[in-house]
Amino acid sequence: MKGILYPSQLKYLDSHRIKEGKLILEMETFAREKNIPIIHWQAAEFIEQIITIFKPRRVLEIGTAIGYSAIRIARNLRKKCILHTIEKSTDNIKLAEKYINQSGLNDKIKIFQGDALTIMPGLKKKYDLIFLDADKEDYKRLFDYSLILLKSEGIIIIDNLLWHGFVAGKKIPSDYRTSTNIIRDFNKVFLAQVNLKSSILPIGDGLGFGIKI
Ligand SMILES: C[S@@+](CC[C@H](N)C(=O)[O-])C[C@H]1O[C@@H](n2cnc3c(N)ncnc32)[C@H](O)[C@@H]1O
Repeated sequence: MKGILYPSQLKYLDSHRIKEGKLILEMETFAREKNIPIIHWQAAEFIEQIITIFKPRRVLEIGTAIGYSAIRIARNLRKKCILHTIEKSTDNIKLAEKYINQSGLNDKIKIFQGDALTIMPGLKKKYDLIFLDADKEDYKRLFDYSLILLKSEGIIIIDNLLWHGFVAGKKIPSDYRTSTNIIRDFNKVFLAQVNLKSSILPIGDGLGFGIKI
C-alpha cells in the first residue's frame, strides 16, 4: 500500500468521483505519464470546497508544477480575486502556462518564476489562503514565511503530510527515509504552532489544515 488508504478504498472513492472536465483529466494523465507529482484529486476537491465557502480574495500557492492545483483553485475564485503561484522550474512553468491558457483562467492566475525562499520575503501584501506544495526539505522555512504572509483568520493548507503513510511508521523504503523524517519533524512543528489551529486530514496524501488565530 503506497497511499494512505487501502487500494480497495481508493478504488471505491474513484468509482464515485464526479464527472470531471477534459482539461483536468488530460492534466492528470500527463502528470502520471511524466511522473510529475500533483495533488490527489480528492485533496483538490476538498480545497475547492474550502474556497467555495471561505471565499478568499487573495490566494498564494507555493509549487505550481504544471498548473493543476492552480487551475482547480482559480476556477473557484470569485470576480476580482487572484491566485499568485510560485514555481522555480522553468520547464514546469512552460507547461503550466500552456494549460492555464487552455483553461481561460489567465486573468485569475499570476505565476512568479523563481525560488519561493527568495520570492516570499519580498511579498508585502497578505493572503487569505496559502497552499504549500513544494520540496519537502524547504517546508519548514516556506511555512515560516507563509505564517508571516497569512492574514489573521486566514487558512493554510499543506500537502503530503502523511507522506504515503510512511510518517505513521509503516516499513519505509530506503529512498523515502530522509523525506519521511523531514515530514515527521515538520508535522511536530506544524501541530504545535500556538498561533495556528492546526490538524492533519487524511485526504489525498494527508492535508495539513491550519487557521491563523
Ligand atoms: C508537488 S509539485 C506541485 C504540484 C502542484 N501544486 C499541483 O498539485 O498541481 C512541487 C513543485 O514545486 C516546485 N518547487 C519546489 N520547491 C520550490 C521552491 N522552493 N520554490 C519554488 N518552487 C518550488 C517544484 O519545482 C515542483 O514543480
